[in-house]
Amino acid sequence: MAECIAVYPGSFDPVTNGHLDLIKRGLELFNQLIVAVVSNPAKQSFFLLEDRLEMLRESTREYAGRVVIDSFDGLLVHYLDKKGVHVILRGLRAVSDFEYEFEMALTNRRLCDKAETIFMAPSEEYIFLRASLVREIAMLDGDVSTFVPPNVKRRLCDRCQMIHGQKNRFNKNVTISI
Ligand code: PNS
Repeated sequence: MAECIAVYPGSFDPVTNGHLDLIKRGLELFNQLIVAVVSNPAKQSFFLLEDRLEMLRESTREYAGRVVIDSFDGLLVHYLDKKGVHVILRGLRAVSDFEYEFEMALTNRRLCDKAETIFMAPSEEYIFLRASLVREIAMLDGDVSTFVPPNVKRRLCDRCQMIHGQKNRFNKNVTISI
């Protein structure tokens, strides 16, 4: 049987327990997962690319050898081609995800007819978990312990403190996209 590899792309800004749940489930189906973090210079992210990669590396250590953490820019289908992998793994949480995910899956296939997207449902407890919500909760001093692993929680606290510090220092509204 050919080696069965999938690319799990995303922003991972930051990685949440929902993403980790999907990685664990993905490894039941695939021998190897390439977790590909998008580096999108056009979109301001909360964490720098290097930090997003590092948090993923820290959080997936137990799967060493089977999970590769990487980044890409440009089109996902070009990255797939470069890697020689044509299976995309994505999580499908609620009905609200469906339109966006379906559109992406079909557009990717239009761009490259070999590109196939496999959707997996996360565990029920993560159905409504979104990285943007986690960032908002952290920025407003809420407890994110049940949403992210401890290493990510620490970095979220540091990042939020830094942003709050900048806002106070300059005594003005610093625009940070959360
Ligand atoms: O975690 P996200 O933000 O939902 O991930 C979206 C991602 C990174 C998978 C998507 O934006 C993407 O593939 N971007 C790369 C550019 C690209 O290929 N765009 C066309 C997709 S149809």
